[in-house]
Amino acid sequence: MDINTVGVIGAGTMGSGIAQVFAQGGCHVVLVDVAEPVLERARRAIEKSLGRFVEKGTLSAADRDAALGRLSTSSSLDRLARADYVVEAVVEDADTKRTLFTSLDAIVQPGVVLASNTSSISITALGAATTRPERVLGMHFMNPVPLMPLVELIRGQATSDDSMAIARDLCVRLEKTGVEAADYPGFIANRILMPMINEAIYALMEGVGTPEAIDTVMKLGMNHPMGPLTLADFIGLDVCLAILDVMHEGLGDPKYRACPLLRRLVAAGRLGRKSGQGFYTY
Ligand SMILES: NC(=O)c1ccc[n+]([C@@H]2O[C@H](COP(=O)([O-])OP(=O)(O)OC[C@H]3O[C@@H](n4cnc5c(N)ncnc54)[C@H](O)[C@@H]3O)[C@@H](O)[C@H]2O)c1
Repeated sequence: MDINTVGVIGAGTMGSGIAQVFAQGGCHVVLVDVAEPVLERARRAIEKSLGRFVEKGTLSAADRDAALGRLSTSSSLDRLARADYVVEAVVEDADTKRTLFTSLDAIVQPGVVLASNTSSISITALGAATTRPERVLGMHFMNPVPLMPLVELIRGQATSDDSMAIARDLCVRLEKTGVEAADYPGFIANRILMPMINEAIYALMEGVGTPEAIDTVMKLGMNHPMGPLTLADFIGLDVCLAILDVMHEGLGDPKYRACPLLRRLVAAGRLGRKSGQGFYTY
């Protein structure tokens, strides 16, 4: 199947990046979110990101304009009736995603793949909310999407080989490396990353070190490009908490229990970079 038009739902941190890379990859993109101001903010973020590539000399001004010309936005899911592929990047909440997949299933043509950018939620459960579980898979991009080369490809219990092949081919088209993971909570990336971030938050809560000390140890001692608390702020503390809760419940192991300090910061609306305050102030 030729993929010409891609629907992206959710125009936050991830959805705007995903829309951008598909537009750069030559696809017409319809970016959908619930509110117009969010869509306007996403368009500005995409323009800014493409502009940085032009400044660096890795993208021509003509290619930037062409990519922006392929991008349209809408607050109505009905605009996806003619999409050839759909990626969902709404909030990390299982009920919201399940409801969305049921709606998408009724709107999008039969046979079209419905992908989720979820960090941890069961692809099998999302597939079961549709009449096409063989066409549902995980396409887990990394943040920031235009810069990070990895995409985790998650095969649900019913996902067909053909659907996985479509997703793998799209990764090649987007110049990303697709790596397949099985459908267990957190897949590969967050199964390994989140316990480290959570442990860093426990270390902070217990006074083992300041945020700067914890991040510097991991940067200079372990050669990580970014410390775990800086990374948590970058991902979004609400997103980190949601992922840990899914892993804790789904894997049943107390080692995934979210640190109470993380829960407290989220309750206070300190969500990291996107809210201006997390472990650091932005
Ligand atoms: N932030 C990260 O670093 C990261 C990395 C990989 C994957 N993810 C995953 O990507 C997804 C999105 O995360 P994010 O960080 O971009 O979140 P975000 O909060 O920045 O954006 C979520 C967007 O979804 C929109 N939304 C919510 N419900 C909707 C609905 N029913 N229909 C349409 N739009 C809706 C919101 O208005 C918001 O704009 C989550 O599943 C998350 O786990 C996040």
